[in-house]
Amino acid sequence: MQRTLVLLKPDAVRRGLTGEIISRIERKAGWSITALELRTLGQETLEQHYGEHKGKPFYEPLVAFMASGPVVSMIVEGERVIEGVRRLAGPTDPIEAQPGSIRGDFGVITRENLIHASDSEESAEREIKIFFPGRG
Ligand code: CMP
Repeated sequence: MQRTLVLLKPDAVRRGLTGEIISRIERKAGWSITALELRTLGQETLEQHYGEHKGKPFYEPLVAFMASGPVVSMIVEGERVIEGVRRLAGPTDPIEAQPGSIRGDFGVITRENLIHASDSEESAEREIKIFFPGRG
């Protein structure tokens, strides 16, 4: 059994897409949401979460965007959930994402790509500690 950290970004919350996205995750057999929170993220949290991107040209606008409104953070648990949520999300650039995926159905620009999902077991454990310290 795996667990992963999923964020529904400020564009998803602003556009009223959180129910649709959560529903797609909930409908996968055997997966469950075991923690869920809505909050606006602070600079410290964002610097920890996106530390690996510091110095890249998209870093500052990304952090500003991620702090621009509330975000839904979740822990999702289940079989192969790390790869599975990333498949549901589609590739980072929404224009490359297939219709049927979350980014493919609802996204246009790379920064505002609706959803984040951990990319490995190591990232999931690191990210869960940042967003849900009590669940680390
Ligand atoms: P995610 O994969 O969740 O985490 C890194 C985020 O940085 C990514 O989603 C996008 O929101 C953003 N990002 C990555 N590459 C670019 C890029 N080239 N231009 C703008 N934003 C980017």
